[in-house]
Amino acid sequence: MKAWVVARRGAPRHALQFKTDVAVPAAPRTGSDLLVKVSHAAINPADAHFINVLPTWLPFRRAPTPGMDFAGEVVAAGPAAPPELAAPGTRVAGAMGVAQVAFGKGSLAEYVLVPAHLVAPVPAKLSDAEAAGLFGIAGQTAEIVTAAAAVGPGKRALVNGASGGVGSLVVQILKAQGAEVFGVCSGANVEMVRRLGADEVIDYRTNSPLEAFLTEKFATKPLDVIIDCAGSQPLFNQSPKYLQPAGRFLTIVGGRSQGVVPFVQHKLLPVLLGGTPRRFDIIGLSPAGAIARQVAKLVEDGSIKEAPTDSVFPFEEVVEAMEKLATKRAKGKIVIKVAA
Ligand SMILES: NC(=O)c1ccc[n+]([C@@H]2O[C@H](COP(=O)([O-])OP(=O)(O)OC[C@H]3O[C@@H](n4cnc5c(N)ncnc54)[C@H](OP(=O)(O)O)[C@@H]3O)[C@@H](O)[C@H]2O)c1
Repeated sequence: MKAWVVARRGAPRHALQFKTDVAVPAAPRTGSDLLVKVSHAAINPADAHFINVLPTWLPFRRAPTPGMDFAGEVVAAGPAAPPELAAPGTRVAGAMGVAQVAFGKGSLAEYVLVPAHLVAPVPAKLSDAEAAGLFGIAGQTAEIVTAAAAVGPGKRALVNGASGGVGSLVVQILKAQGAEVFGVCSGANVEMVRRLGADEVIDYRTNSPLEAFLTEKFATKPLDVIIDCAGSQPLFNQSPKYLQPAGRFLTIVGGRSQGVVPFVQHKLLPVLLGGTPRRFDIIGLSPAGAIARQVAKLVEDGSIKEAPTDSVFPFEEVVEAMEKLATKRAKGKIVIKVAA
């Protein structure tokens, strides 16, 4: 089969090779794994990170294939696979976990072997291109961070990075939960974020520095929740000026991969020693089919109306797609069309 492999660590152009002679994984004879023919994959900032940091010389990681998100159809299933997933032709999508990525069993391949617990059935109303991002890392992360935020009618929520793969879904879900939503993005994406449901969109370039603008705007009626999908230290450090004392700051950026310093600074440092007196939480995703099923519910009940898609690249152009993602200018998901 065709698949991308990591030949050496580094930036995607240096690290990745396109192969046409990779062995198709064997159909599962035991357990609950699914052999899936991939139609579309979506890419995430973490893909480039893993390509750059995971060694390629480990015995269990020879010629590893990268990639997490996928959508496609079941070709074969182990005898213990759940009946609603097992039938050949069932449309499924999800995201590979850290274990699959570490072992080099990623989604940038024509066929993948996936544990059934990482997969959810795809509703008929979604295309595979939409499902790859929605049921993948971005959609699942949007689901868990909005569930953690637990906002409802009357609450005011700010989304930083509102036009990205995750942020563009967070805006829609918060709006459906009844919150008043303020989206932060650059001028080029203001219209899109408004269309996704933001009550007000703040261009961080024309309102720079953002923290000073927010201080003035929200001084008399501070926000209840800030969800940071772009990763800004000053946004948290200065949050007491525009976030309620009981308000929450949730970030999806700055997990273990970015060191413990932000975590210790923001979560554990007492106010007396310079800590910021607001609740800070880093939300990290462990992909699961159960979370993808929650995303499916949000699609079915209309909370997620749109799967914003920046672009669809042919399978041969994964390097170009990753380079576009690295610019941090994607408007929604960058998708790879794997099947011809
Ligand atoms: N914790 C987890 O489990 C988890 C899961 C998924 C993602 N993440 C992390 O979350 C971040 C976002 O992921 P993603 O997939 O949404 O990335 P993405 O799609 O690449 O995000 C691109 C967006 O970032 C926005 N952006 C860039 N600089 C900005 C700034 N200074 N202020 C506000 N917005 C800015 C851009 O909007 P403009 O062009 O309008 O500026 C663009 O729309 C990444 O760091 C990723 O690694 C973490």
